[in-house]
Amino acid sequence: MPAPTLDRQPAGSPDEAALQQQFAATIAADRRIEPRDWMPEGYRKTLVRQVAQHAHSEIIGMQPEGDWLLAAPSLRRKAVLLAKVQDEAGHGLYLYSAAETLGADRADLTDKLIEGRQKYSSIFNYPTPSYADVGVIGWLVDGAAICNQVPLCRSSYGPYARAMIRVCKEESFHQRQGYELLMTMMRGTDEQRAMVQESVDRWWWPSLMMFGPPDDESPNTAQSMAWGIKRHTNDELRQRFVDMTVPQAQFLGVTLPDPDLAWDEESGHWRFGAIDWEEFKRVLGGQGPMNDVRIARRRAARDDNAWVVEAATAHARKHEAVPA
Ligand SMILES: [Fe+2]
Ligand SMILES: [Fe+2]
Repeated sequence: MPAPTLDRQPAGSPDEAALQQQFAATIAADRRIEPRDWMPEGYRKTLVRQVAQHAHSEIIGMQPEGDWLLAAPSLRRKAVLLAKVQDEAGHGLYLYSAAETLGADRADLTDKLIEGRQKYSSIFNYPTPSYADVGVIGWLVDGAAICNQVPLCRSSYGPYARAMIRVCKEESFHQRQGYELLMTMMRGTDEQRAMVQESVDRWWWPSLMMFGPPDDESPNTAQSMAWGIKRHTNDELRQRFVDMTVPQAQFLGVTLPDPDLAWDEESGHWRFGAIDWEEFKRVLGGQGPMNDVRIARRRAARDDNAWVVEAATAHARKHEAVPA
């Protein structure tokens, strides 16, 4: 289906001040902006960038765990993992649809991802050498995604907010299936417990990086919050994640690899050590352990399956041409 035409006024038209006022009033009243509403170009661009980056993360995020689909240790584990990886595909599709309501073109977004002109979450550039990684990704990575995404259910852009409601319900299944797998392994042998701990040691810090740079190095945050696109700062969400996760780690019986982690009675929060932002920048900039593999596979999927898109498009056109 072609992207809908948006009724936007050209910049500088006499009505623009009134439209701007109406937009500001909608945001101030905490109502939703819908695709056919007028919106400032900066708002639209920011949203396209954020929604596309989110969609890319869902699709690329299928790869690290997808590598375990053929090696899952039982039919039950395989079925759970398959359902989870399929959910991530679905999340990507809702989000590309949301980006299309803003006038973006899906094929163009995919090209931008493959050419490195749009980003995806740095977390998916780490390898999954151990089966325990499946559990730890569910627990920590999907757990961090929930912290990030629950407030987005109240995002000011209607299609994005509504997509997030369903996505969050599925994310909570992802988090639970990961935690349940880890609980099972922790009740198992010494070797299994060691596998879980080794995996937690690798994923803990990259999970904290998922919330993005610290607030004083996040120049777009203030504007995104003023527009109601974001509801909390990166550091607020990161703290919420740490506070939620530490008791879960204790219950599980694993040690989080941070000697500075300590309960702060006064603030009622867990304090944690310094994050290696140089590593974050390196991985986000394309130098992580798996960046090349992730993009090469996405490129191959686009190219190998181009005929499916062509056939489906031709089929849809044929149906459009037939009067109902
Ligand atoms: Fe997801
Ligand atoms: Fe997920």
